[in-house]
Amino acid sequence: MKARESGMPDEEQWESFFHPEEVLDLLELRDCRGDIVEFGCGYGTFTLAAAPRCRGLIHALDIDPEMITRVMQKARKACVSNIVVATRDFLVEGTGLGDASCEYAMLFNILHLAERETLLREAYRVLRPRGRLGVIHWNYDPATPRGPSMAIRPRPDDCQRWVQNIGFELPKSPIVMLPPYHYGFVAQKTAEAEASS
Ligand SMILES: C[S@@+](CC[C@H](N)C(=O)[O-])C[C@H]1O[C@@H](n2cnc3c(N)ncnc32)[C@H](O)[C@@H]1O
Repeated sequence: MKARESGMPDEEQWESFFHPEEVLDLLELRDCRGDIVEFGCGYGTFTLAAAPRCRGLIHALDIDPEMITRVMQKARKACVSNIVVATRDFLVEGTGLGDASCEYAMLFNILHLAERETLLREAYRVLRPRGRLGVIHWNYDPATPRGPSMAIRPRPDDCQRWVQNIGFELPKSPIVMLPPYHYGFVAQKTAEAEASS
């Protein structure tokens, strides 16, 4: 069940919209001690940048086999060995990862999907207590060169409310601007989840 409006422009154009290293710095993905899960890795724009920041594995999931092939090619070319790709529909099949098995979840340009609650619940499940969730999305601005239609494009406070409704905390997470076209924030799985696990 591919997320609505997840069609991508060509890779060169897509990658011109981001400064991945700056995005990862601002979303506190600097030295991740465990595994990372990336929901909808696309061309691997952020996967490749995250790899050297991760001491564990990066589970890069996408429903589109062409995207997965592209990420595999890029990982091979860069001699990166901690990216594990999977062609997978995370809405229907989940991630296939264990409970509390990941340190960080990347939800980048994906929260416009209709089934966001399913996605957020799976992210919550696979994160360890105090594990972090990084979200980025297109600015709520019709002038951006791409991005979901305004009818389904979430505002930053929509994303934060949805995340909190699942049980994530927003500890010290103001919205950060990720110029030229994006914003982001970091949320955290509650510490209470530690006590009950
Ligand atoms: C807008 S792109 C974002 C790609 C990447 N996160 C980035 O920001 O560069 C969304 C990606 O999610 C994938 N996707 C959509 N629905 C999915 C699903 N149900 N399961 C797995 N991947 C999905 C699409 O194939 C696409 O590559």
